[in-house]
Amino acid sequence: MFGKKKDIPQIDKDQLELIQNAQKRIKQKKRLYIHFVVFLIGAVFLIIANTLLGIGEDFKLFDLNWFVYAILIWLFLFVYHLFSVFVTHKFMGKAWEQQQLNKLVAKQQDRIEKLKQELPKDISSEKKEIPHVPKQELTIIVAAAENDAIGKHNKLIWHISDDLKRFKNLTSGHHIIMGRKTFESFPKPLPNRTHVVITRNPNYKVPEGVVVVHTLEDAIKVCANDPQPYVIGGGEIYKQAILIADKIELTRVHESFPADTFFPKIDPSIWKETNSVFHKKDDKNEFDFTFLTYVRA
Ligand SMILES: NC(=O)c1ccc[n+]([C@@H]2O[C@H](COP(=O)([O-])OP(=O)(O)OC[C@H]3O[C@@H](n4cnc5c(N)ncnc54)[C@H](OP(=O)(O)O)[C@@H]3O)[C@@H](O)[C@H]2O)c1
Repeated sequence: MFGKKKDIPQIDKDQLELIQNAQKRIKQKKRLYIHFVVFLIGAVFLIIANTLLGIGEDFKLFDLNWFVYAILIWLFLFVYHLFSVFVTHKFMGKAWEQQQLNKLVAKQQDRIEKLKQELPKDISSEKKEIPHVPKQELTIIVAAAENDAIGKHNKLIWHISDDLKRFKNLTSGHHIIMGRKTFESFPKPLPNRTHVVITRNPNYKVPEGVVVVHTLEDAIKVCANDPQPYVIGGGEIYKQAILIADKIELTRVHESFPADTFFPKIDPSIWKETNSVFHKKDDKNEFDFTFLTYVRA
């Protein structure tokens, strides 16, 4: 069972081809020999049939018996067979076939190259200068109650310290886009952020550093160099921004409140929740709440 493995003689591809070729030649010569023997027997039989048995005795052509013609035709076929075995095979053998094949392949390749040159240059293969467009992630940041309430009398409804901290952490160093009313709900501009205020009033006055625009589109243009500008409210601006934003950072306050301003419903067919962190109410946070992140589905 565990005896020495027998050495199997290995034949390479060239050797195998030679053997197959030799076998083929032997077969061809054998067939030629059989043909020759059959021809001889056949010729004798034809002569006997005509001369001894008298078959077609009266049929003569140019004063010659028919068997002469039959033997001559057969002889011609035999000579043709002999020629193809010993002559044609010599210059139309395997090497000749391969040569012809190579010639054909080269011809086809030549034609393909010519066709390629005739075709209009493939513009996709040309090196294109793609301008570097930094990917901007327009993000809505909001705190909303279970009934989507976000404010009343131009004020927030609750005090959740952790939410304010999160707001500060996320928005610091970025542009914050807001409606005129939300801007006016702040005692003063928030530090370390560029305020972009949207108003229809062409004469709206703001402190230095605050940017005034008259459409949401212009607000986004102002933030062109910011990879993550934040839309921070209020209700009117959220309604417009939710249609184009890439992300929503929501603080869901687990309570319902009477209010005059609401956040639009988050459509689950459009928005996919990617993160959720629940927090219990405590001394600094009046209500239970969950930090939720949504991205476009
Ligand atoms: N819970 C939260 O996370 C949160 C966040 C922010 C705000 N809030 C609350 O939301 C409330 C304020 O929201 P709001 O809806 O009343 O006001 P808002 O959205 O802050 O501001 C509305 C104002 O923005 C300007 N505006 C809106 N759309 C515009 C457009 N397409 N083109 C030009 N200007 C446009 C108009 O200013 P003009 O009238 O000057 O033309 C409009 O009166 C407050 O209660 C606030 O406390 C809550």
